[in-house]
Amino acid sequence: MAAKTRYVCANCGYETVKWLGKCPDCGSFSTFTEEEVLPKNKRTGFAAASARTPVRLNTVKTDIEGRTKTDIGELDIVLGGGFVQGSLTLVGGDPGIGKSTLLLQICQKLEQKGKTVLYVSGEESAQQIKLRAQRLGVEGENLLLLAETDVNTIIATAVETKPDMLIIDSVQTMYLDSVASAPGSVTQVRESANRFMQLAKGDNISVVLVGHVTKDGSLAGPRVLEHIVDTVLYFEGQRNGNYRLLRSVKNRFGGTNEVGVFEMSGTGLKEVKNPSEYMLSGRPEDVPGSVITCIMEGSRPMLIEVQSLVAYTNFGIPRRMATGTDYNRVIMLIAVLEKCADLQLGNYDAYVNLAGGMKITETSLDCALAVAMASAYTGKNVPPDTVIFGEIGLTGEIRGVSMVRQRISEIKKLGFKRCIIPRANLKEAAAVKDMDILSVNSVKELMKVSMK
Ligand code: TYD
Ligand code: MG
Repeated sequence: MAAKTRYVCANCGYETVKWLGKCPDCGSFSTFTEEEVLPKNKRTGFAAASARTPVRLNTVKTDIEGRTKTDIGELDIVLGGGFVQGSLTLVGGDPGIGKSTLLLQICQKLEQKGKTVLYVSGEESAQQIKLRAQRLGVEGENLLLLAETDVNTIIATAVETKPDMLIIDSVQTMYLDSVASAPGSVTQVRESANRFMQLAKGDNISVVLVGHVTKDGSLAGPRVLEHIVDTVLYFEGQRNGNYRLLRSVKNRFGGTNEVGVFEMSGTGLKEVKNPSEYMLSGRPEDVPGSVITCIMEGSRPMLIEVQSLVAYTNFGIPRRMATGTDYNRVIMLIAVLEKCADLQLGNYDAYVNLAGGMKITETSLDCALAVAMASAYTGKNVPPDTVIFGEIGLTGEIRGVSMVRQRISEIKKLGFKRCIIPRANLKEAAAVKDMDILSVNSVKELMKVSMK
């Protein structure tokens, strides 16, 4: 009898009995691959390694003292204070973004603290890892390397050597004999991750899985693992740009939405302690179309430059382009500018860009986007010592935003003298001294006070 099969979306793990061109769940195209249906393993994940009888909530011990700080400040922020012993962490990101580099640097820090780390690579040989380690200045007795892809062998080695941390680079190269499909397929990746989960919980080893994100869905994406693991970190950035953001999107032991900022240098990843300064370096001063704003990344304020170019349309239909922010939001702001600020943008192309390759969809960006476009259109500058933030509503009203005090403190720290903020936030902002604060209530008012 032919084996029973099903079709699985490599991006999100959605299952169907028939092949589909487009995944109804995540919307990606041509990601369905045929996989054999395996006998159901009834107890998977953490449940398989934990007790079977219910316990009273108030008798459960919460000793998360087993946290290990990595002493890489930016990483510790994102993890909420370090790796928890016996946890399973997923580090996802595009190929070549720097995941292996970061993990090797983590190895070094842990090694210096006297911890043992087992680094398993399914992609590189021990020699290749050694070469990279030399470049990063990583060495040490307690750093064990293993070039292996068989999950059972890796688990047996880990149980024998009892490392404090096990790193799997990458989970998409791992395979289990008992699973029929190829390495990198949804079933293989999911089953391997389940085994590592059992190892983490059962033997109290912190396990870090590396997962590649592939746009074409040729490999099972880290999304199919998000529900299994304790913590999900994504490493983002443009490969040709230097800065990298490490973002936590799930954390069972801390807050999410924290970001760490790194810079890729010739000798590995360096922490960027002051991202605002980094983002603003090299900006043009006193030119139309450039506006500084302050956004929040988790609990961290960050100053960035918003740029715009508005030019007469050569073809009938004007082009609008948004790089690093929400396209539809920009279209909406253009409509508001036409209606409420009497700017005739109907015959003009409008481009907006967040400098430095940042990707931000926070609504407090609205005011800066609108002013940048208006400034590019009119040719009037925003004074270079001014920072603008606030949300814009459809009737042209300016709405308040959160964490105003933190934002203004950051603005002050970077030497700016003036900020334009929503009137609703004025009371909160008054607590910050030595700052010239202008508050606005409508887009019209915003246009009047922001440009000279
Ligand atoms: P890598 O960690 O191999 O990426 P991943 O594991 O996410 O696929 O990093 C790859 C890139 O980083 C590579 O193109 C070279 C660059 N790089 C540096 O610029 N400096 C360095 O010190 C190292 C080790 C890598
Ligand atoms: Mg790698």
